[in-house]
Amino acid sequence: MKLSTSREWLFSLALTAATLPSAEADMTTTISSSTNWGTWEGFGVSLAWWAAAFGSHSELADLFFSTKTTSYNGAQVPGLGFTIARYNAGACSSNTINGSAMVVSPKMIPSRQVDSYWLDWQSSSPSSSSWNWNVDAKQRNMLSMAKARGATTFELFSNSPTWWMCINHNPSGSNDGTSNNLQSWNYDQHAVYLATIAQYAAAHWGVTFQSVEAFNEPSSGWWNGLTGTQEGCHFDVSTQATVIGNLRSELNRRGLGSTLIASSDENTYDLAISTWKNLGSAATRQVARINVHGYQYGQGRRDTLYSLASGAGKRLWNSEYGESDATGRSLVDNLLLDFRWLHPTAWVYWQAIDGGGWGLIDGDNDKLTLGAVSQKYYVLAQFARHIRPGMQILDGGSNYTVAAYDSNAHKLVIVAANWGPDQYLNFDLSHFSKPGVSGALVPRWTTQVGSGAQYVSHSDTHMSGSKFWSYFPSGAVQTFEVANVSL
Ligand SMILES: *[C@@H]1O[C@H](CO)[C@@H](O)[C@H](O)[C@H]1NC(C)=O
Ligand SMILES: *[C@@H]1O[C@H](CO)[C@@H](O)[C@H](O)[C@H]1NC(C)=O
Repeated sequence: MKLSTSREWLFSLALTAATLPSAEADMTTTISSSTNWGTWEGFGVSLAWWAAAFGSHSELADLFFSTKTTSYNGAQVPGLGFTIARYNAGACSSNTINGSAMVVSPKMIPSRQVDSYWLDWQSSSPSSSSWNWNVDAKQRNMLSMAKARGATTFELFSNSPTWWMCINHNPSGSNDGTSNNLQSWNYDQHAVYLATIAQYAAAHWGVTFQSVEAFNEPSSGWWNGLTGTQEGCHFDVSTQATVIGNLRSELNRRGLGSTLIASSDENTYDLAISTWKNLGSAATRQVARINVHGYQYGQGRRDTLYSLASGAGKRLWNSEYGESDATGRSLVDNLLLDFRWLHPTAWVYWQAIDGGGWGLIDGDNDKLTLGAVSQKYYVLAQFARHIRPGMQILDGGSNYTVAAYDSNAHKLVIVAANWGPDQYLNFDLSHFSKPGVSGALVPRWTTQVGSGAQYVSHSDTHMSGSKFWSYFPSGAVQTFEVANVSL
């Protein structure tokens, strides 16, 4: 049904006609008040390459880690308010050790070489000359700017063990891509490396890592030292289990018994399922959170992974998501699927600055050029600025709706997308013991996938009894905040 009705009409309908049927709304979604899909921990981003390139840019820290409006590229841009930052422990150094130097893949992209703090195997003491704590200053600077702007949750993650721990001394992977590349006598050294950084960060950077992740897509077969463009390392599942045990011991030994272990950052939901099933009871006991990447997009058994995680009492994050669709359409599709089926308690974008549609802001980490804010950025703002840490994730009642409840503020947040024709969407809050106040304003924000509205706010929507509705052009993503709601 296509309606050309004006917003004024909608406004008066909302105020005066609570008794009229809401048939003007083409689709109705009923928000559940009784689900609990977890307490939200936050939206975030991995630092690594973009922050190692642009880590001195405070305006980028404002955009990604604050909610204030920042001037950027001639526009006034609302901050995304990320509260999670994943810091990448690098694997590269230029020193030689007894005549051996790091082996570099011929296709390596320089901005993807992240500095290692540990330079050689002579000493594991962080105060010895085997460690250089001055490297990687820019990524560290972005980490502390994130914290200063309100980020609360930090993870330390590794893409590859430091080069000299690797069989071929190449931190892009083994020579066939599918073999383990960590030398067996360094299974503990990789754990020592990460635990030492976590301890040093707490003492010297003012950053307490909530969690440490020793792997990145470890079961995948593309970590090839001859063709790789970034750091990476294959670990079979039994080696992962050994390293997890070592990491637990090394963290405990350094007084970091409350630092969580996250694992295994597999590339897909289905790989995460098989890794979890095969990790063994000792390692799964030591993993506090399953981290999974969202690169299976519309495929894979998100629901099965959630069942496994919740059944085992583990937290679950989508710890890495990215694609080249700058319109924001794919991002919304996958966020909706994740909220509905995976039920993560955090969601972390991969590279905030990147080219080819991958960045939230277009840029080149090698040429150090920055470009436009993508439409995907504004689409993500619809979620990240409103679904905040501490909120309870509810069942939005349909595949196009996400709902989150703030029990302190008695506020219900609803984010919905319309991929159908232009139409009204109707939101039914009748399941709540207090469904807001009839006639009350429901502030809304709108972004048009592709191009058009960019996080535009409107004050034209009101509760009508326990419902409200809003006109959604095709491709619109909208956020609503309903006050005075009780479950
Ligand atoms: C490195 O070379 C020195 C001098 O030859 C030797 O004493 C030392 O044992 C070597 N270290 C390793 C770990 O190979
Ligand atoms: C919801 O499901 C319907 C029917 O399968 C589909 O046509 C629609 O595109 C889906 N909407 C979203 C936002 O995924």
